[in-house]
Amino acid sequence: MKNKIASEYGAHFQTILQQTHSALEEIGQSACVIAAGSPHPMFLDDMYYPYKPNPHFQRWIPVNDAAQSLLVVEIGRRPRLIHYRPDDYWHKPPEEPTGFWVEHFDIISVSDLDQVPGALPAAARDAPVIGEWNDLFKDWGLGKANPSALLNQLHFQRAWKTNYEIACMEEATRKGVAAHRAAEQAYRQGASEYEIHQAYLLACGHVEPELPYGNIIAYGPNAAVLHYTHLPRERPATPPLSFLIDAGATHNGYASDITRTYSAHSGEFAELIMAMDEAQLRLCAEVKPGLNFADLHLRAHGEIAKLLVRFEIIDCSAEAAVNTGLTGTFLPHGLGHLLGLQVHDVGGLQASPEGGILPRPDGHPYLRLTRDLQPGWVTTIEPGLYFIPSLLKKLAGTEVGENVNWEKVEALKPYGGIRIEDNVLVTQEGHRNLTREEQARQSL
Ligand code: GLY
Ligand code: MN
Ligand code: MN
Repeated sequence: MKNKIASEYGAHFQTILQQTHSALEEIGQSACVIAAGSPHPMFLDDMYYPYKPNPHFQRWIPVNDAAQSLLVVEIGRRPRLIHYRPDDYWHKPPEEPTGFWVEHFDIISVSDLDQVPGALPAAARDAPVIGEWNDLFKDWGLGKANPSALLNQLHFQRAWKTNYEIACMEEATRKGVAAHRAAEQAYRQGASEYEIHQAYLLACGHVEPELPYGNIIAYGPNAAVLHYTHLPRERPATPPLSFLIDAGATHNGYASDITRTYSAHSGEFAELIMAMDEAQLRLCAEVKPGLNFADLHLRAHGEIAKLLVRFEIIDCSAEAAVNTGLTGTFLPHGLGHLLGLQVHDVGGLQASPEGGILPRPDGHPYLRLTRDLQPGWVTTIEPGLYFIPSLLKKLAGTEVGENVNWEKVEALKPYGGIRIEDNVLVTQEGHRNLTREEQARQSL
């Protein structure tokens, strides 16, 4: 995999070079400056929050330690990396860059930010900046930050992953699946949520800031908190009824995003997980070029409605459960999102390279992807079914709520909920489920 990543980088570089040049031509500019970003200081402190590179920078430069560096992309010239390597004895400065990517850039090392203006090419003057604004940029003569006309072009294109990006995501999947296996083992041995988190980190070789998002490791009712990242240190006094883990990994900045749910014992909740797994696989099987993701999201509501009827959680028809919005109480998030350098990758609602929004269906405010799928995109497919006390409370007492079997809901609340999430690559022929492929490989 590492060899594939290295050998595919050249083609990836050419693709993003072309994309950036055409985007610049579209907006009538000859160059742009992509800023790596800088660590943010903590209030009243001399420490910094973990540094996360600007994803636009990391798309070109696959390292995490180039803070404050600048990449100048100019039509007709090799991109120039102004690489900041401070003379610092408090922190370890970045090494001189090596590896598969360096041959594509003119690299100028600077040890002091005062040297940056001398390293900038003439074309950088007034050139648009992509990245977080830093007041120094004005002194250096750079132009406006993040013009939407430029970002729209780049964000729209980012949905199409190059072979290099897919290889990075396959590697992020390999790490994530290995870590999920370690987490499951820790859970079966009675670990605390915190101990599972540690087992997960150890197995994927990450420190926390390298995770694509905070691990969601949830026992029982905690699974009903969609972004639960509390990680209690104590082991539960009584064995938890269920376990939901939503955790990913990264490689060269590219993410995997995987969720599994387990039941501690056989019975109705275990059957519900199995039925959800089948429904999730049916939704994955639909993935192919041209499929509108908002339509698939609505189909997911149909699947959830059928589960609610089959498990006698509601007593109206599945169709009515979708039409009245009843399923929204049990599945209050989107079916999935684009995945890439950001776990919720940009451009999911964008209508065209020029911008505009493809609206979400009414009543589905959290859907993050409404475009028609195309070969080369990676999306998550992550249906869920939860027993969320605050949403159930809102539903109780309404006319729609009269269709709910509240006794059943009360019995299932201690299990929290279910989410099953895979990462699916759209191909010319249909799709590849990157998560299940890797899962099968690792369980051999
Ligand atoms: N882990 C966040 C998500 O699944 O979208
Ligand atoms: Mn996700
Ligand atoms: Mn997730």
